[in-house]
Amino acid sequence: MLDIRQLSVAFWGIKAIDDLSATLDAPVVGLIGPNGAGKTTLVNLLSGLVPAASGQVLLDGQALLPLSPRQRVRHGLRRSFQTEQVVEDLSVWNNLRAMLDHVPHERASANAELATALEFTGLSELATRLGSELNLFQRRMVEIAKALLGQPRLLLFDEPGAGLTEQEARHLRRAICAIPEHFGAQVLLIDHDVDLIQATCTQTLVLDFGKRLALGPTAQVLQDPAVRRAYLGA
Ligand SMILES: Nc1ncnc2c1ncn2[C@@H]1O[C@H](COP(=O)(O)OP(=O)(O)O)[C@@H](O)[C@H]1O
Ligand SMILES: [Mg+2]
Repeated sequence: MLDIRQLSVAFWGIKAIDDLSATLDAPVVGLIGPNGAGKTTLVNLLSGLVPAASGQVLLDGQALLPLSPRQRVRHGLRRSFQTEQVVEDLSVWNNLRAMLDHVPHERASANAELATALEFTGLSELATRLGSELNLFQRRMVEIAKALLGQPRLLLFDEPGAGLTEQEARHLRRAICAIPEHFGAQVLLIDHDVDLIQATCTQTLVLDFGKRLALGPTAQVLQDPAVRRAYLGA
């Protein structure tokens, strides 16, 4: 469970996140809002790329903001990046193995853990393939597989389907939405596709100008007149 309390950050005087409070407790939480609403900034704040000006964030009771990005990863926070972090001259298997150096894991069951992550992401057949030989979709899947290692608690996905074909994006999102059930971790999913958010997220947070515009069960949130005005143009 992610508990955000009075979180703020400003760039050049513009409040990108403005006194945001939200308790996110669904297995898959949607995060939507118009361009510039602060969605990516929130992900950057949570993962430690951007320091908060004020506020507090608790992940399963642990205060995140005092932790370094590395410590947050060790505490189970994961994010995907817009550009895939795949090492070109390592095999898929060794790309995953390298991740294990940074997260808590049982040495004895490391191979089994890698195999589970590869199977879940459909990469088992590609285990010996070099990073440089992978296409964009396969790279995204490697990123997801890496994020699943070492007992993740919360995975942050910022428009994970961007740049993929419709079919690839659907495949990827389906995997993302199955993560809570298979790995016991929570997912925060940013996606511009409102139909997809409705179909996959039981709870949704809507940001607008860095503020919380709505939070609640997705269907209810999408019916909210303020959300329809600001986001759906209705
Ligand atoms: N590093 C930065 N420096 C200055 N302004 C930024 C920076 N990152 C984001 N912003 C601004 O913060 C606001 C929120 O941006 P962002 O979080 O990228 O929105 P979203 O992901 O919802 O489209 C925008 O006005 C954007 O221009
Ligand atoms: Mg963004």
